[in-house]
Amino acid sequence: MSTFSQELIGRSGYLNEGFADVYDRYRPSPPSEVLDVLTVVAGVERPALVVDLGCGTGLATRAWAERVDEVIGVEPNPRMLERARAATEQSNVRYVEAFGAETRLPDGRADLVTSFQSFHWMEPQPVLAEAARILRDGGVFAACDYDVPPFVEPEVDAAFSALLKARREARKRLGIPAGAASWPKERHLDEIRASGRFRFTRELVAHGWRETDAGGVAGLAESIGALRHHPPEQLRLRETADRVLGDRTWPQLLCYRIRIGIK
Ligand SMILES: C[S@@+](CC[C@H](N)C(=O)[O-])C[C@H]1O[C@@H](n2cnc3c(N)ncnc32)[C@H](O)[C@@H]1O
Repeated sequence: MSTFSQELIGRSGYLNEGFADVYDRYRPSPPSEVLDVLTVVAGVERPALVVDLGCGTGLATRAWAERVDEVIGVEPNPRMLERARAATEQSNVRYVEAFGAETRLPDGRADLVTSFQSFHWMEPQPVLAEAARILRDGGVFAACDYDVPPFVEPEVDAAFSALLKARREARKRLGIPAGAASWPKERHLDEIRASGRFRFTRELVAHGWRETDAGGVAGLAESIGALRHHPPEQLRLRETADRVLGDRTWPQLLCYRIRIGIK
């Protein structure tokens, strides 16, 4: 089971020494606007249980702590999970080491099953079947993804996009299988519909802000794995961010696409 995910994780670099720390430091947590949208579609003021599949270092999992009775992060990569546990103090947040398709959680209890920036890593249909199993009637599955790169400033954006393009081209040239590209995010809603397990499906959008700086922009690129093959473009991004942002902090716009299915 989950050989696909196991192989993907193996070649992703996410098991490398120190990667989970870089990830947790530079990747965004979902802004409150996104959690507001999810709470509204779940139809409750305070969810009793949220299950966060592919929780990584728990950036989205612990963001729920104040707003729910209980939140459970599900993650198969032990290094990411170790970082999640070390970074979490709230007693109503816990983690299980498992794949999204086999959470071993009880039937029909969750108000929300979320997958932040991770549904494209998973074989969709077995995971949707598992999400539907653990959701209560009226509960919501939500695949939530922010646009990459998040917008900071046009020149910085162009340099970041050039780095991502160089990375994609090098992967192609070297025959390195694209990390988590088997299940494109644009198809998430089709997959949710095709599962036949949700009575209402829809794509929603929301955005929020966080503060960043030149180091934050470079760190985010590093957390995407962009460094490994592209020192020139990486250097250019850092130089551009240093020149444009200087030592100021800067608002970074996080645009989320939220693909939901209501059970
Ligand atoms: C890009 S990270 C997203 C982490 C976190 N949700 C966030 O928002 O930062 C994708 C995560 O999905 C996990 N993952 C990969 N395959 C999975 C599967 N089949 N079931 C659950 N999680 C999986 C990876 O190990 C990785 O930690």
